[in-house]
Amino acid sequence: MSLKIAPLDRSHRPLLADFRNTHPALADYLQRYALRHAEKDLLARTYVAIDSGSGAPRLAGYFSLATVSVERDSLAPLPALERLPRFPIPGILLARLAVDTRIRGQGLGRYLFEEALGLTLQLARSGPVAFRLFVTDAVDAEAASFYTHFGCVPLGDGFPRRMVLDLRPLL
Ligand SMILES: CC(C)(COP(=O)(O)OP(=O)(O)OC[C@H]1O[C@@H](n2cnc3c(N)ncnc32)[C@H](O)[C@@H]1OP(=O)(O)O)[C@@H](O)C(=O)NCCC(=O)NCCS
Repeated sequence: MSLKIAPLDRSHRPLLADFRNTHPALADYLQRYALRHAEKDLLARTYVAIDSGSGAPRLAGYFSLATVSVERDSLAPLPALERLPRFPIPGILLARLAVDTRIRGQGLGRYLFEEALGLTLQLARSGPVAFRLFVTDAVDAEAASFYTHFGCVPLGDGFPRRMVLDLRPLL
C-alpha cells in the first residue's frame, strides 16, 4: 500500500462508490453525507486514506472529526478528572472510523486512529482553544474492543458505547 491521507473534497467523488464496510451505514455516510457535512453543513470534517499503490487509486479508509462536550457525571470511570468543575467537558469527537472490508487487519485502522489522535493533539497544543478529551462512540463490541486496545475508556454498557481518552497525559 502507498497511502496518503487528505481532507475529503470533490476530487475524491469518483472513489466513493467502491468503498465497502461491514457496517453499511459507514459506507453510506461516506458516499452520501460526508462531503456535505464538511463543506456545507459544517458538522464534521472527513479525512480519507487514498491507496495509490497498485493501479488505480482506491479509497482504503476514512475518519471524521467533530467537536463534542461530555456530560460531567458520565466521566466517573476516569478518576483523573474527578477534581474538574461540574460542567460538561469539551473534546474532539472521532465521529466515524472505517477501513474497507477488503483490507481489514493490515494496520490501516491503527494508522487512521493515530492520525486522528495526532491531528487532535496538534490542535490541543497549538490551536486557539482548549479541550480535554478525545471521544468516540463504538458501534458494537468489536469496535469497543478496538478502541480499548488504544486506551479508550468506556463510559457505559450499551451501544453505541461512548469511549474517551484523557488527552492531558499525552500533551
Ligand atoms: C475497526 C476497524 C477500523 C479496524 O481496522 P483494521 O485495519 O482492521 O485494524 P488494524 O489492522 O489497523 O488493527 C490495529 C490494531 O488493533 C487491533 N484490533 C483490530 N481489531 C480489533 C478488535 N476488534 N479488538 C481488539 N483489537 C483489535 C489489531 O490487533 C491491531 O493491533 P496492533 O497494531 O497492536 O498489532 C475496521 O475493522 C472496521 O472498519 N470495522 C468496522 C467499522 C468499525 O467498527 N469502526 C469503528 C467504530 S465506529
